[in-house]
Amino acid sequence: MALYNDTVMDHFLNPHNVGEIENPDGKGIYGSPVCGDMMQVTISVDENEVITDAKFKTFGCGSAIASSSMATDMIKGMKVEDALEVSNEKIVEELGGLPAIKIHCSVLAEHAIKNAIYDYAMKNGKEYKGLEGFDPDAEHHDDCEEGHCEV
Ligand code: FES
Repeated sequence: MALYNDTVMDHFLNPHNVGEIENPDGKGIYGSPVCGDMMQVTISVDENEVITDAKFKTFGCGSAIASSSMATDMIKGMKVEDALEVSNEKIVEELGGLPAIKIHCSVLAEHAIKNAIYDYAMKNGKEYKGLEGFDPDAEHHDDCEEGHCEV
């Protein structure tokens, strides 16, 4: 059985939204505490708080590329507050599934997007429910911080 389905393979081989927006309204970088891979997301947001463009660059695996390709597709055209609802589970669902050991790669995409939105919110004095309690610098989950990270 193939490890990756056709949708994942297609987004990996022909990723959408690769690159970096010049003078973005929001920029987020996130490093996965699980594998150390990195992702950068840049977004453009219009005056109605709609994400008009999103691009990503990653130093990450194929699943990270597929996840961020899908995730940036998903948030384009969304209101910022709706984009904050795009969880890694939703990204995986849209991809038609990822192998269990690759789920954290979709978390990388979700978190990088949230970081970009956080940057936009800070620069523009906006507050969103979806950012309540969000820590853009959180690089470790609780277990890692306590020194017994098993993943
Ligand atoms: Fe690091 Fe996939 S293994 S993002």
